[in-house]
Amino acid sequence: MSTPMTAEQIARHVVAEAVWAPSVNNTQPWRFVVGRDQVGLHADTERRLEAADPDGREMMISCGAALFTARLALRSLGYIPQAQVLPDPGDPTLVARLSWPGRAAATEFERRLFSQVRRRRTHRGAFDPEPLPQGLLAALRGEAAKDGAALRIVADDGRRAALAAAVQSAERAQELDSSRVRELTRWTPAPGSACADGVPATSYPARPERTDPYFPGRDFARGHGWGLPPLSTALASRATGVVGLLTTAADESADWVNAGQALQRVLLIATAYGAAVALHSQPLELAWLREVIRTELSDAAYPHLVLRIGMVTQVAVSVRREPADVLSFSSGDGGDHAGPGRG
Ligand SMILES: Cc1cc2nc3c(=O)[nH]c(=O)nc-3n(C[C@H](O)[C@H](O)[C@H](O)COP(=O)(O)O)c2cc1C
Repeated sequence: MSTPMTAEQIARHVVAEAVWAPSVNNTQPWRFVVGRDQVGLHADTERRLEAADPDGREMMISCGAALFTARLALRSLGYIPQAQVLPDPGDPTLVARLSWPGRAAATEFERRLFSQVRRRRTHRGAFDPEPLPQGLLAALRGEAAKDGAALRIVADDGRRAALAAAVQSAERAQELDSSRVRELTRWTPAPGSACADGVPATSYPARPERTDPYFPGRDFARGHGWGLPPLSTALASRATGVVGLLTTAADESADWVNAGQALQRVLLIATAYGAAVALHSQPLELAWLREVIRTELSDAAYPHLVLRIGMVTQVAVSVRREPADVLSFSSGDGGDHAGPGRG
């Protein structure tokens, strides 16, 4: 076997990949502290959405997605990751301690998933009216369950329509809520901006693509006319895609982290199959509507995200902060007692 890598080299590789995880409004609410032989993944609470995410649930889901990506990055190097989720009750923002105690070559499947980390993009809009590849939904359901979450496919027409109506009402309510609009403004830079976070205009369509039933996207452009022009002017029929809910049986911080890990698994597998996924968290950011969805549409399991899965040619471009901006070093266990350590 080749010369073992140092903890610093391993951590730099891991963080460079983990930053490509999805996060709500691309807030990238994470920091990584590298210790002697482990990495601490911390939630960056200054990046929590105060209006949309008062409990930090979406922040922890985002960190969970980064955790799964970090685990996969360790596998890509042939290390066996060990993750302790929320290891310190005294520090609820320490999302996980990640170490790499053993070695085993990555499997073909792990390598395939890993190769999707930087290619994967959140889709916004409609899908082509093409069926999903055979076996994809079963694979997604099976993989989501590995992290203690569930992907529930909402196949019944009435239930799909009800979920679409929930997304529509939430979107309308949020567009009228001035504190949420102000918050969204902070995370939606104008075209040409050099911002390395937030949702860039290169990642959403300029005009909503209507489908039946209709799941509206967030109003990132806020009337500015920003966004990607339509790919073609042809009036091709466009599809909603397969609709699902990502849920967990309980609703504690650890469940949120697990939902995030399951989310990233689902997204990477879908990408590996050539499919794309659209995410809608608008109705789950309103407590009363989340409760309606929980009791009426998800068998009392706690819903975290509405997903639509489909086939489409993606052109979206997203942005990320430099790994060095979220990475610092400590002489100890990856706890939070180090200053920023660039370079
Ligand atoms: C918890 C969570 C909630 C999200 N909610 C939405 C949403 O409601 N609408 C949307 O378009 N994207 C949503 N996203 C996707 C993010 O906006 C996206 O991950 C981020 O902008 C980075 O872009 P990328 O996924 O293409 O890399 C969500 C992501 C997470 C992790």
